[in-house]
Amino acid sequence: MTVTRGLEGVVATTSSISSIIDDTLTYVGYNIDDLAENATFEEVIYLLWHRRLPNAQELAELKNQLAENASLPQEILDHFKMYPIDKVHPMAALRSAVSLLGLYDDEADLMDEQANYRKAIRLQAKLPSIVTAFSRIRKGLEPVAPRKDFSIAENFLYMLSGKEPDAIAVEAFNKALVLHADHELNASTFTARVCVATLSDVYSGITSAIGALKGPLHGGANEAVMKMLSEIGTLDNVEPYIREKLANKEKIMGFGHRVYRLGDPRAKHLRAMSEKLTQLTGEPQWYVMSTKIEAIVTGEKKLPPNVDFYSASVYHSLGIDHDLFTPIFAVSRVSGWLAHILEQYENNRLIRPRADYTGPSLQTYVPVEQR
Ligand SMILES: CC(C)(COP(=O)(O)OP(=O)(O)OC[C@H]1O[C@@H](n2cnc3c(N)ncnc32)[C@H](O)[C@@H]1OP(=O)(O)O)[C@@H](O)C(=O)NCCC(=O)NCCS
Repeated sequence: MTVTRGLEGVVATTSSISSIIDDTLTYVGYNIDDLAENATFEEVIYLLWHRRLPNAQELAELKNQLAENASLPQEILDHFKMYPIDKVHPMAALRSAVSLLGLYDDEADLMDEQANYRKAIRLQAKLPSIVTAFSRIRKGLEPVAPRKDFSIAENFLYMLSGKEPDAIAVEAFNKALVLHADHELNASTFTARVCVATLSDVYSGITSAIGALKGPLHGGANEAVMKMLSEIGTLDNVEPYIREKLANKEKIMGFGHRVYRLGDPRAKHLRAMSEKLTQLTGEPQWYVMSTKIEAIVTGEKKLPPNVDFYSASVYHSLGIDHDLFTPIFAVSRVSGWLAHILEQYENNRLIRPRADYTGPSLQTYVPVEQR
């Protein structure tokens, strides 16, 4: 048996959703740079789910379906009130809430294509409501109901703060959602596909994916970046802090990637947003410190920043609590997970690799009283 650690370079499926070729990321053939500059997140959702951009009527219909399904069952809100709220990470709350949501969906175990599509709409619509409601409830505030006339980006910021967001914040947040929507066979997407390839249901697939995204080597890196920036604190401290970490062979969060070699094409968009937003909030130090970290890590390790590095200072500038950064990643990536789950069902085969056994060879069982 040949073991490929971490499945590096292994091609496990075909997919027509997104591709990474020569460090270029496309969704259904559209370059991410083009989509980041021009598309709404709702258009991207349609693109990922239907493999083509919507016309105006199709887009309006999708927006309407999402708006109609954005409210949460009261049971979910009540459940949040039972959590040990000061100890629960919002990603754990989100994972539990999505699993719970399945209990209140009469169609949870229906496996026909239309029922699965309807569940995709419900999950995409409700994730922003879950994250924002949890954030408010843990602060002793009442959840804010979603507005039917708002986009997902507008609604998220509105439900979080209770105030209508300004145009700059909405534009930045929409762009972040577009940039995080899908990413070929990343760890959480693979997790979702492995789960539903057993013909398990959509809620189980998304719950599993959230669990995988939570880890700091994947989506959890964006929160870890902000923790690092806060620990560093000042521009003068960047150099000694980063050099000490590198000398100790510690990883610098927000750098490196399994697939990209020259650089993550999403990072430049987030870098530009970080520069603009940190200026606007009067906290340019987060951007300046980040660029200094980038110069050192790129120079020393030849590792370019990934999507998580500059998204940290972007979300911080939007006034978002640091432990909500990874749930925001999920609010976007659920669109990709759902596209991959629907694609997996279309042409399913159980995903079941092998392990090269390294334990002891045949042993004779000895009864417990003789051991
Ligand atoms: C993304 C990541 C998990 C990819 O992992 P991978 O393909 O398995 O690569 P490895 O962890 O085996 O790293 C390969 C080498 O680069 C180094 N490296 C990788 N990422 C590094 C980082 N962020 N900081 C410092 N060194 C890093 C490793 O130490 C290793 O060095 P070695 O060969 O001398 O032991 C990894 O780069 C990482 O942990 N990055 C930080 C977390 C992060 O930002 N995750 C979000 C990804 S979008």
